Amino acid sequence: MQAFVHEYGELKLKDVKEPVAGEGEVIVSLRVAGLNRRDLYIPNRRGDHAGALTLGSDGAGIIDSVGKGVKNVKIGDKVIINPSLRWKLESAAPPNGFDILGMPDNGTFANKVVVSAEQVEFKPEHLSWEESGVLALSALTGYRAMFTKGQLKAGETVFIPGAGSGVATYLILFAKSIGARIIVTSRDKKKLEQAKKLGADIILDTESDWVSQLENETVDLVIDSVGAATFNRSLEVLKHGGRMVVFGATTDDTVNLNLREFFYGQYHLIGSTMGSRQELKAMLEHIKNYSIHPVVDKVFKLSEANEAFKYLEENHQFGKIALTIEN
Ligand SMILES: NC(=O)c1ccc[n+]([C@@H]2O[C@H](COP(=O)([O-])OP(=O)(O)OC[C@H]3O[C@@H](n4cnc5c(N)ncnc54)[C@H](OP(=O)(O)O)[C@@H]3O)[C@@H](O)[C@H]2O)c1
Repeated sequence: MQAFVHEYGELKLKDVKEPVAGEGEVIVSLRVAGLNRRDLYIPNRRGDHAGALTLGSDGAGIIDSVGKGVKNVKIGDKVIINPSLRWKLESAAPPNGFDILGMPDNGTFANKVVVSAEQVEFKPEHLSWEESGVLALSALTGYRAMFTKGQLKAGETVFIPGAGSGVATYLILFAKSIGARIIVTSRDKKKLEQAKKLGADIILDTESDWVSQLENETVDLVIDSVGAATFNRSLEVLKHGGRMVVFGATTDDTVNLNLREFFYGQYHLIGSTMGSRQELKAMLEHIKNYSIHPVVDKVFKLSEANEAFKYLEENHQFGKIALTIEN
């Protein structure tokens, strides 16, 4: 079978051995895989001396074979993969042993992937293959950041910089579904218009003066994953006593924080990452109840994965990027 791998510093399609299901495991024959920014970071993290690793955290497909003891799914079932490994129940932080599929384990940019049977859920019936393949990682991260950690309620206002990001598009859809007010920023006019169509109430240029434009707004919650480029400015628009959830740092990890302004403002700064299987199930129920569809910006073939990486790296996306896989 074929897989898109990172091997000795190179990203390439390669013939690899088919996986075999061990006890409690399943083989998923993939129809679609989804790209995440994490996939772009992995080559740097691994360096130029590591052997082949199949990239990819998100995917949807059909159960191809099952190992001994598997009871929750059978051959032929349509499933999505939960990339949040070994985190079953909601908890304040991931348990020991938690990892994300696609490093160190081989991921979804391949004809087939082997995962524990506990890492698959039935494909939502209202979603296409493309929508299902780009769902889990970003929607789960957004769901935990917005509801478990951010505690967003109907009638509150949420501020989201970087409207074009994969996770941000889910945040807009989730906030809209519960009747919250949504303010987003983007550096791209077209993305701002797309965000408005999706449900954003106020759209702002990322480079503009947010404080003066939002002087009549009360921001209850900020969800910022852009990092150093926006962190301090996001904090400036948050109401005193408000909540700020951070789950990513696309631009830079390190920020300067004025502690005096922080404690006078009595802000709550909350870290979040991925989510548990329990939260994934709650998210799936939520998107079913509210008929939420992921925003699929562009679909590439697995053989075009290098182009898809470039498209994401250059921030052209509004929403998610899918890779279709022929089996
Ligand atoms: N901890 C976790 O579990 C977890 C899970 C998922 C993602 N993440 C992290 O969260 C971040 C977002 O993920 P994603 O997949 O949604 O990202 P993404 O689709 O790659 O989008 C990143 C967005 O950041 C904005 N951006 C990039 N450079 C910028 C700059 N210089 N100034 C202002 N804005 C800039 C862009 O928004 P505009 O183009 O609209 O301006 C872009 O759309 C990433 O860092 C990712 O690694 C973490």
